[in-house]
Amino acid sequence: MKDILQQLEERREVARLGGGQRRIDSQHKKGKLTARERIELLLDEDSFEEFDMFKTHRCTEFGMEEQRPAGDGVITGWGTINGRMVYVFSQDFTVFGGSLSETHAQKICKIQDMAVQNGAPIIGLNDSGGARIQEGVDSLAGYAEVFQRNIMASGVVPQISVIMGPCAGGAVYSPAMTDFIFMVKDTSYMFVTGPDVVKTVTNEVVTAEELGGASTHTKKSSVADGAFENDVEALTEVRRLVDFLPLNNREKPPVRPFFDEPGRVEASLDTLVPENPNTPYDMKELIAKVADEGDFYEIQEDYAKNIITGFIRLEGQSVGVVANQPTVLAGCLDIDSSRKAARFVRFCDCFEIPILTLVDVPGFLPGTSQEYGGVIKHGAKLLFAYGEATVPKVTVITRKAYGGAYDVMASKHLRGDFNYAWPTAEIAVMGAKGATEIIHRADLGDAEKIAAHAQDYEDRFATPFVAAERGFIDEVIMPQSTRKRVSRAFASLRNKKLENPWKKHDNIPL
Ligand code: HXC
Repeated sequence: MKDILQQLEERREVARLGGGQRRIDSQHKKGKLTARERIELLLDEDSFEEFDMFKTHRCTEFGMEEQRPAGDGVITGWGTINGRMVYVFSQDFTVFGGSLSETHAQKICKIQDMAVQNGAPIIGLNDSGGARIQEGVDSLAGYAEVFQRNIMASGVVPQISVIMGPCAGGAVYSPAMTDFIFMVKDTSYMFVTGPDVVKTVTNEVVTAEELGGASTHTKKSSVADGAFENDVEALTEVRRLVDFLPLNNREKPPVRPFFDEPGRVEASLDTLVPENPNTPYDMKELIAKVADEGDFYEIQEDYAKNIITGFIRLEGQSVGVVANQPTVLAGCLDIDSSRKAARFVRFCDCFEIPILTLVDVPGFLPGTSQEYGGVIKHGAKLLFAYGEATVPKVTVITRKAYGGAYDVMASKHLRGDFNYAWPTAEIAVMGAKGATEIIHRADLGDAEKIAAHAQDYEDRFATPFVAAERGFIDEVIMPQSTRKRVSRAFASLRNKKLENPWKKHDNIPL
């Protein structure tokens, strides 16, 4: 008996070594942790339960039958993050470069199936050379099995991908179908075709980092939602994100203990909006002053900065925030910001996370590049996302809410539950100058007359009161009491029930 126990321990020891000490050292030299070290940091101490530690591939091509390492390049199982269950897979670059074989895929599929069945998030730690070249189509089939499960899990359990090494070819499409992608700076990259193929086909010379590094995907392509300095920071931040999310679409988001008075008054907010309507101010200040303990988890911080998306808590409860940022492009909506915010709104709605919308938007960004790029269709994504969302929606207009952008930003007409405005709000078809120049075109030569018309327009329309008279604004609130008003609004909506008509699925303008 003792021998058998000993044997198990020995087999486990060998499996834990993956591709061996030499390759582990090489992984460390690159500044990367091993697949097991990553799991240890991601999960609560001693909470990891492994599946399929001894599973091996069945390939007999290219002498592969001689090398059948236990686990086949991916570590799978479940554990907890701050006591809440998650499923995890972590690709082991020390075993055939973390490449995906039929067996490796089966291991991932097993935990995907269990996660959906048992209602817990899936976190994938990706570090892989792509399809296991020796396995050919079996490996491609394995990828497709993973993809199909990504699709089925979408909207059922949160799926988070962390890119911690190479991720190339069709392999990028599994992370691409998950809810969030995070990357590690300098050690991870994602691309469909690598620099060599790019050079052959297009003659462009580009490094892997330039083509698909963390900076490219968080600033240019928006493929990734955040980038972190190293493995440790990335894993710590994923833990922080998981704390904001429900385990699945049948559960409410977690309510965490909070130590911040919900009725906290912030006198400084009364002067946040500058006297001059064209002077910007930082909307993040409002977010921080509304949030419990000022804690804000930003998503896509470096992309389309004219809109801010992320999570806060109010009275301990997760809330998704979407806010125009007047310091960038005056807070205009454009193609990129519409896409960014639409995806975020849809994520919140999938997982019953209420949405707080903070509005200061002078309209959609004009220009040929926007029109040629399809701003109509992309702007419609955000409109559609807000309109279909059935989660509690609370909106605060701090300053401008002009034109179509007023409608889009969770207005009353898109089933906003509470629509508040600060006294500084200007809710109108457009700004005074533009409006005057159109409706008083005949007076354009007379500066005095134009100024008088503009003043008249401002007095009549650059206020929240016309909208409030119609009931489009439920209440004009003091800026300093925003946290209290918004917290009470969400508290009153905890039992909100709203369903859309039955449909197979909608046809959001993709
Ligand atoms: C099998 C692989 C492998 C792969 C790497 N290895 N990629 N084995 N299949 N795809 C092995 C190497 O042989 C090596 O084994 C070990 O992993 C480490 O690889 P190195 O090349 O030494 O590491 P490094 O220099 O860091 O380079 C990493 C790399 C490179 C950039 C990922 O290995 C590489 O380019 N690999 C091929 C990538 C690729 O073309 N994959 C297919 C993409 S197409 P030893 O024994 O020496 O340690 C694809 C299609 C998916 O994925 C389609 C889905 C629909």
